[in-house]
Amino acid sequence: MFDFTRPDPPSDDKRWKLVLAEMRKNGYAQNSLIQCLHAVQSSFGFLDEESMRFVANALRLPLSKVYGVATFYHYFTMKPPGKHTCVLCTGTACYIKGVPELLKAIKEKYKIKLGETTEDGELSLLSARCVGACGLAPVAVIDGEAVGKLTPDQLLGKLKEAIG
Ligand code: FES
Repeated sequence: MFDFTRPDPPSDDKRWKLVLAEMRKNGYAQNSLIQCLHAVQSSFGFLDEESMRFVANALRLPLSKVYGVATFYHYFTMKPPGKHTCVLCTGTACYIKGVPELLKAIKEKYKIKLGETTEDGELSLLSARCVGACGLAPVAVIDGEAVGKLTPDQLLGKLKEAIG
């Protein structure tokens, strides 16, 4: 159930449920800003304007404050520069089901590691701690869309499709 006195999340992406759970756990307290941003980053892999705006509205904080905290701590990653993003879930279930092989395949094909963007600016690779789809492990979120039960070949195929 959503709290109707607070804004709805930007989309019905399941990952917002994890973020909302963290917000509720902290009673939407303004001093839980860091935990909330942490929840966004561990679910989505990075922070972007939309997610920061949502956190600001939900905690009733000015957007500038949220930006300030997000850019002050090196821990937080802002939306990466690549035209396309691939977020690999490195949560336990995904890790056990083969994320290391997926990482290796991307590294070989695109010559990038986690947190990096290809030289041509087409693809950024990130990780998230759990994207809330453990039953589909291993999961990657490519341009916002979760794809599960991936083999390295399937992942490379999906990335090729996305990049075109
Ligand atoms: S561990 Fe990957 S979706 Fe939960």
